[in-house]
Amino acid sequence: MRNFINIADIEKKDLREIIDNAKSQKGKRSKLNKSAIDPNAPFADKTLIMIFEKPSTRTRLSFELAMKQLGGQLLVLNPKEIHYGSGEESIHDTAKVLSQYGDIVMMRTYKHKHFLEFSKHLDIPIINGLTNLSHPCQIMSDIMTFEELKGSITNKKIAWVGDGNNIVYSLIEAAVKFNFKLSIACPKKLRPENKILKWAKKNNSKILITKDPFEATSLADCVMTDKWISMSDKVDKKKKRKLLKPYQVNKKIMECAKPDAIFMHCLPANRGEEVTNSVMDGRQSAVWLASLNRVHVQKSIIQWCLK
Ligand code: CP
Ligand code: NVA
Repeated sequence: MRNFINIADIEKKDLREIIDNAKSQKGKRSKLNKSAIDPNAPFADKTLIMIFEKPSTRTRLSFELAMKQLGGQLLVLNPKEIHYGSGEESIHDTAKVLSQYGDIVMMRTYKHKHFLEFSKHLDIPIINGLTNLSHPCQIMSDIMTFEELKGSITNKKIAWVGDGNNIVYSLIEAAVKFNFKLSIACPKKLRPENKILKWAKKNNSKILITKDPFEATSLADCVMTDKWISMSDKVDKKKKRKLLKPYQVNKKIMECAKPDAIFMHCLPANRGEEVTNSVMDGRQSAVWLASLNRVHVQKSIIQWCLK
């Protein structure tokens, strides 16, 4: 059984297969409308169960559309409306029951530990739709988007500017697996987890961490950022915003990157804070394409899990 939990767990060749399959399937349906089912409807007899502990726009809608295009069925569960570790029924028993009804689960949780606990008891594959630790589906979509616009990501320079959060965690894993250069600019206090940095170093990563956003973005092929305050952040928001103030992606930062560099943000964005309107809506912005590509990459991830 194949789970899609973290990029680091998956072999390089499988990650490459997921991206290439997503690109080729997207190409094949270029003349079809969004909700049209793929001609072979590969998942006509399959059901995806989705569980969201916290809000989502893109992940929810893109998985819905992905399953629709694959010809499959969908069940969306709100943890508050089911017996889900609430004392009424153990996580173990809920997972066993879901395994009877569905073929694959996509789950968004607060604690990564909780996600792992749930996955342990499932008898069907599970996909990580964001935890406090990581967001692998997002980064896979970003890689597909980068390659669609700029060609192979191998040896390209990707710059991350801002909080060392769950998105950059998956980006670090991807830098190792897809062999690109990653420069991270963030305040010392907001650096990504040491454990993942150590893992990256052990695996010959090309990662630079600096406090200087201009050093990180210098001649980059892509500049990325995310909200300064994540959904799970239990921090002094005022203090965090102050620390991150020099890390706004604006015109000056984009001018430091290559003239044809692209800008990506997983969204939702807090315009005027981590990114300016002129960058979000500017010619280099690939944010809407990356949202669309969530559909295609996730179709490919579901297919890989169920292979
Ligand atoms: N980028 C992303 O996962 O967005 P949502 O929180 O809207 O799903
Ligand atoms: N870092 C953000 C990503 C949202 C898609 C969060 O966890 O809230």
